[in-house]
Amino acid sequence: MNPQLIFLGAPGSGKGTQAKSLVTKSGFVHLSTGDLLRKEVAKESELGNRITKIIDAGKLVDDSIVLELIKINCDLSKDSYIFDGYPRNINQAKSLNEVILHDKKYIVLYFDINFDLLLKRLINRRTCRDCSYIYNLLGNSPKKEGVCDNCGGEVFQRHDDNEEVVNKRINVYKSTIKPILDYYQQKDVLKKIDASLDLETVAQKIDEIIK
Ligand code: AP5
Repeated sequence: MNPQLIFLGAPGSGKGTQAKSLVTKSGFVHLSTGDLLRKEVAKESELGNRITKIIDAGKLVDDSIVLELIKINCDLSKDSYIFDGYPRNINQAKSLNEVILHDKKYIVLYFDINFDLLLKRLINRRTCRDCSYIYNLLGNSPKKEGVCDNCGGEVFQRHDDNEEVVNKRINVYKSTIKPILDYYQQKDVLKKIDASLDLETVAQKIDEIIK
């Protein structure tokens, strides 16, 4: 069985893109807390409406809500997961180890990137509403505008992918990442990847680490 994978990295560093490709290639299950939260938002429930406000402000949703979503959506006795976007602070890192991973083998991949690249990547990102395929208008656009090449679903721009909110998300990331990196460094499970490289090279580096 593959180890569990934890993807750490700034917004736009490529975590989701690489996770989706590993699902197809290597049978991992992709668990993105961002996607789980957006599903709650789509329900337009009272909780969903609260989450919308937090995401649109570029802030982090409460740890307890996110942990609950993770618990409901994974079974580590059956599958190997990619935790994408979780943990986002040291409290979440400790919860992940103590409540979810227990004694399971895991590797932490840190998508290290020059922050100057992020804004351009994110404001040009488009995502399929149905299959979640990730596009970019700078080199990987859908063939027909607004329509997914894979499934014909609607390709849309995420509400939080605008300059103002992206800058807030990057600032939150900068203020929370160091203790998380230190935590995993101490456990000797941290592997760094240069996420500024092109998609294929990043994918190749990840494959080398997993093997
Ligand atoms: P979330 O959905 O997790 O967003 P994020 O972490 O901000 O990450 P992104 O999805 O923006 O980036 P990515 O690294 O996946 O990049 P991608 O592969 O798409 O979170 C959204 C919000 O939900 C948060 O702000 C927060 O409010 C809340 N939330 C989520 N998790 C939470 C948690 N645990 N606790 C509390 N709150 C939480 O790539 C980006 C673009 O770049 C794409 O267009 C792609 O095509 C392109 N690209 C990717 N790789 C490359 C490459 N190597 N070269 C060129 N282009 C590339």
